[in-house]
Amino acid sequence: MATVRTLHRSDAHAVVERIVRRLDDDALVQPLVNARLDQDALYETILRATNATWVATDESGIVGHLYAAVLGDVTQALAAWTGPDGASFDDDEVLAELVEIAGASWRHAGAISHYVWTLDDDERIGPWRRLGYTPLSVRGVMRLVEHDQHALAPGLVLRAAVPSDIERILELDLVIDLAQGEPGAPSRKDRNATRREMLALLEDPEVNHYVVEGEGRVLAQTITFPLPLRRGSFDHTLHLSEVVVDPTAQGQGIAHAMIDTVLENARRQGFEYVEAQWRVTNDQASSFWPRYGLAPTYVRLGHALDLGK
Ligand SMILES: CC(C)(COP(=O)(O)OP(=O)(O)OC[C@H]1O[C@@H](n2cnc3c(N)ncnc32)[C@H](O)[C@@H]1OP(=O)(O)O)[C@@H](O)C(=O)NCCC(=O)NCCS
Repeated sequence: MATVRTLHRSDAHAVVERIVRRLDDDALVQPLVNARLDQDALYETILRATNATWVATDESGIVGHLYAAVLGDVTQALAAWTGPDGASFDDDEVLAELVEIAGASWRHAGAISHYVWTLDDDERIGPWRRLGYTPLSVRGVMRLVEHDQHALAPGLVLRAAVPSDIERILELDLVIDLAQGEPGAPSRKDRNATRREMLALLEDPEVNHYVVEGEGRVLAQTITFPLPLRRGSFDHTLHLSEVVVDPTAQGQGIAHAMIDTVLENARRQGFEYVEAQWRVTNDQASSFWPRYGLAPTYVRLGHALDLGK
């Protein structure tokens, strides 16, 4: 049986080695995972988080580690978040012990759930599932290469969104919420917050907001921005989000044509990969993205932290 405690400075090198090995293994299974990392920077990061990093040890040395950041905002309850580099464990028992001890500290900090990003691979997901974690969302990646484009049907045009599109944009946003399993009309306060957020995005020079228009009506949209550097993703990755086609116009190739053009523009600007994220409960997105060519890389699993403990 392993002993679980917070990280000592002398553990940091061994934990870096475990993370490097784990990401290398991830990339062997899924080459669309970027295993490259700056080991010195990771070492420094770990040393800054000794109290939030748990290690499991036995007579052989370190047999597991677990780190989570407790985060939340005004709309979301606090949760503990573990990235692709935040966990390693030699077996199920080690993971269970790490989660039990670290979980108590996350609860103490006010977190009510734990989320972990792990490779979308049965062997990786299995130990978490056996502890009761369930898949919630998926990161999908595709390399951008020149290929034949689907064209929009005659009469449809792709253009940059402008502030006067805002009401249609908000309507399409509701279509996404429904597909993601978040039905129910948002309160006026939420709607005003989303309006402000969307209008701010239109002003953001890093963000491109595209719409497809036909007969004077906006029928589809997507938002793109350069993906901030994050573990497991490549540099020069475009993040594609808020993809939606009006329900009356779905199944006619509008999303394919819109995304083909948007990605070709991005490729010409130097982007090498595209990444999107979708909920596992969103059937349309779960079938659309892999068919479009995005391969699932990491999956986010979640579990409620038992408040009784
Ligand atoms: C996911 C979504 C954007 C797809 O939009 P869409 O315009 O219906 O997608 P397309 O028409 O391009 O593709 C859907 C199917 O129609 C087919 N299709 C029909 N006519 C086509 C044509 N003329 N050209 C190309 N494909 C065509 C496609 O091949 C595709 O089939 P496939 O799924 O078997 O590959 C849409 O379902 C949607 O808005 N869902 C709700 C919001 C949402 O979930 N967004 C994603 C958030 S992550």
